[in-house]
Amino acid sequence: ANGYELLKDYSKGFRIGAATNTIHYNNANYVNAMKAFNYMVAENACKFVSIQYTKGNFNFNDCDAHLNKAKELGMDFRGHALIWHSMAPKWLENEDSNTMKNSIINHITTVLKHYEGKIDTWDVVNEAIDDSSNGNGWKMRNSFLYQKVPNFIDLAFQTARQVSPKTKLFYNDYNTEGIWGKSESVYQFIADLKKRNIPIDGVGLQYHVSVQNQPQYNKINDLIGRYCKLGVEVHITELDVSCESSCWASDVESKQATVFTNALKACLANSCCTGFLVWGIGDPDSWLGNDKKGLLFNGNYQPKSQYTALLNVL
Ligand code: XIL
Repeated sequence: ANGYELLKDYSKGFRIGAATNTIHYNNANYVNAMKAFNYMVAENACKFVSIQYTKGNFNFNDCDAHLNKAKELGMDFRGHALIWHSMAPKWLENEDSNTMKNSIINHITTVLKHYEGKIDTWDVVNEAIDDSSNGNGWKMRNSFLYQKVPNFIDLAFQTARQVSPKTKLFYNDYNTEGIWGKSESVYQFIADLKKRNIPIDGVGLQYHVSVQNQPQYNKINDLIGRYCKLGVEVHITELDVSCESSCWASDVESKQATVFTNALKACLANSCCTGFLVWGIGDPDSWLGNDKKGLLFNGNYQPKSQYTALLNVL
């Protein structure tokens, strides 16, 4: 027993999870805290550069190790991410258009086949919309992918559907949570994919936010509701709530708790919102750094008040 109530015991089957990393699995306190969740995503191990660092040489060891740990702990597993301009191998960036197109197809095909029947949901494309998009249409991120294979998004989703018809295919991005103009642009972009019959099943709202810049409940609830009407699922995929130094005060934990609970409430209020994940287990392993205190467990991997607040929402 963990000595505290587990989120998964109250979620009634709803997927509530966290990003984890095998580099921490030798820490018993970290692994114990993982048991609060019933859903897992690998922080880095299933990304393009992690699996295919060398062209044609697919190394699934670390991604498999995450998946095996998930199985051992009775957690479902989320695939992240097939195609992303970041954490892509150098050799891919240097390829010419036609070769890159084939490499995109080959990576998606090989990874989806390897995990067929084991991972039911994948982020097919990550972060392809430019941050300057202001809600008036959308601008594509000017990445090497877009420059060399302008239709890489359509290609990626179509390939994924063809290779693995049962897998749920997601688009995942940040600043999509109703604060910035980009969130409206991403909505329009997803609506366009649907309109053009590109096979997409869901959208991941990363939800990297801060106490200073946090989604308002009504806005995020409305936005998720609009995605439901479009006919896609929604996952909150990478939630953390950073605190820049200017927000430090004794009430910071309760302010962070409000951001966490608003996100979970808005997700649970909309039937198409089928997953909720935070980006890391505790503050020490957060990509934000320990000092931002953005997660649910403290330095000793004991639950913080933000954790209890989430528990009370379930
Ligand atoms: C981050 C990881 O947390 C870091 O360890 C890594 O160095 C960079 O990537 N958006 C995403 C995630 O989709 O994959 C990123 O994860 C955080 C931002």
